[in-house]
This record gives sequence, C-alpha cells and structure tokens, in this order.
Amino acid sequence: MITMNDARPIILKLGGSAITDKAVVASPRNELINRMAEEIKRADLDNLIIVHGGGSFGHPTAAKYGISDGYKEDNLSQKFGCAETHHMMTVLNGIVMDALILHEIPAFSVAPLNCIVTDNGKIKMFDEAALRAMSKLSFTPVMYGDAVMDEKLGFTILSGDQLVSYLAVKYNAERIIIGVDTDGIFEADPKTSPEAKPIKHLTLAELKALQPKLGKASGVDVTGGMAGKIAELVPAVEAGIPVTVTGATKGLSIYRALTGQSVLGTVIEKT
Ligand code: IPE
Repeated sequence: MITMNDARPIILKLGGSAITDKAVVASPRNELINRMAEEIKRADLDNLIIVHGGGSFGHPTAAKYGISDGYKEDNLSQKFGCAETHHMMTVLNGIVMDALILHEIPAFSVAPLNCIVTDNGKIKMFDEAALRAMSKLSFTPVMYGDAVMDEKLGFTILSGDQLVSYLAVKYNAERIIIGVDTDGIFEADPKTSPEAKPIKHLTLAELKALQPKLGKASGVDVTGGMAGKIAELVPAVEAGIPVTVTGATKGLSIYRALTGQSVLGTVIEKT
C-alpha cells in the first residue's frame, strides 16, 4: 500500500537575489545554492514545495524584449526573447536541480510554462494533476518564475512570488518562507542606510499601511525591490498563511525557518 501524504505544504521561495549575482548576467551563486540544498536536505520535510526566482537569469532577457508587457506585434525577435527567457530559467532551474539532486532530495522540476496560463498577468489556469500526484508521494516539486502564455497579452512573466501565493492559498499551506539576500524587510534600504533595522513582525494591516510608502523614493523602503513581491503575498496572508522573509545567504536561516525555529527576518501574519 502506498502511503499518501496529505500534510499541508510548506512553500519555500528561493529569491533570485539569493541564488544569483544580480550584478552579472547569468551568474549563479553556486556555493550558496549548494548550501541552501544542504539545509533543505537537513530539514528533511516531506511536504515541501520549492519555487525559485529568476535573478540575473530571468530578468535581463525579459527586460530586453519587454516580455512582461506581452506580445506587441508579429515580432519574431520578441517571440525569440520570450523563448530565450524561458530557456534561461530552465538553465538556472537546472543548476538548482543539480544541487537538490546532489543532496539526494527527491525533487522534480515543474515548468510553469507547461502547466499554467495567465490572464492579464494573473494565474487563470493551472493543470495541477502532476503536482498533486508528486506531493502525495512526498516528492519535492520545484517551480520558478517563468515566461508563460497569457490569454490577453499573448505571453507575460509570472513572478515566483505570485506563484508562491497562489499555491499557498490553493493548498492551504502551513506557511511560506521567502529566502532573500538580506535579513528580511527593513525600515529603509540597508544597502544605503546601514543603520536600518529589520522589521521583526508585520500584521496584514501594517503591511498594507506600509505599501503606499514603499514606492516613494524618500519613504519607507524594503530591500532589493521587495515591495512589489510582498504585494503578491497579500492574498496568502489574507488567507491566514504566515510568511517569513529571511536571509537565505546566511548559514542555517533556511534550515531554521523550515523547521519552525525563529530566524533573523520578518514574520508577516494576518493579525
Ligand atoms: C522572475 O521571477 C522570473 C523571470 C524574470 C523570468 P521572480 O520575480 O520570482 O524572480 P526574482 O526572485 O525577483 O529574481
């Protein structure tokens, strides 16, 4: 008899800022990716879904060809750019998969392009049969931000963060962990304001109050373009799923967060 796993999933996002060097096109942070894989293995979870970002693999190509805004005309180069964006993501995904498999994690790559269609940038259709079957047998599905087909736009970019939020709500996740290159959300950008302190806890109301200020140059800021990403997570927080944003580049934060221990970073909860 096959044992089925019905546990609520834990969803881990490995941010592009943590797994790639954003300053150099297509440069993976191999040592960090390996360490994250080691921590994921050590946490030994059978209800984990991993989603990773694009960093310097996804964003430069997507920006060069304007993929987020959709298909503009019968433009072969833009179509090529969309194909290249997806391809770059599969290359980065291969590097992440290499590390996970090397650490003997039963991980399966699941390409969003092949099972998701968006409508004006929002997930409209998700063919979940394979992912559900994998989760039931405690495989670890690995998805990523991707170029996807879009009913209105032709194609667009689906962020890993929207995917995380969508999966969390759909499968009533136990929690979401977002691994980035700083220790959570800061009151100001720690790269330009070294004295800035991380925000330890945010309620949904506080998060929403923070959001209008996030876009203003002189207002409260978060690190690494975090504002838009956090906005994508609001539906999950609204659904009562707690989100921990922590530094994936520091030793053991991912392990500690995965195993429910306290970490340096920000916890976002409904109340
Ligand atoms: C972006 O995904 C995917 C592409 C640009 C193709 P994310 O928005 O989740 O990536 P990061 O975490 O910001 O790099």
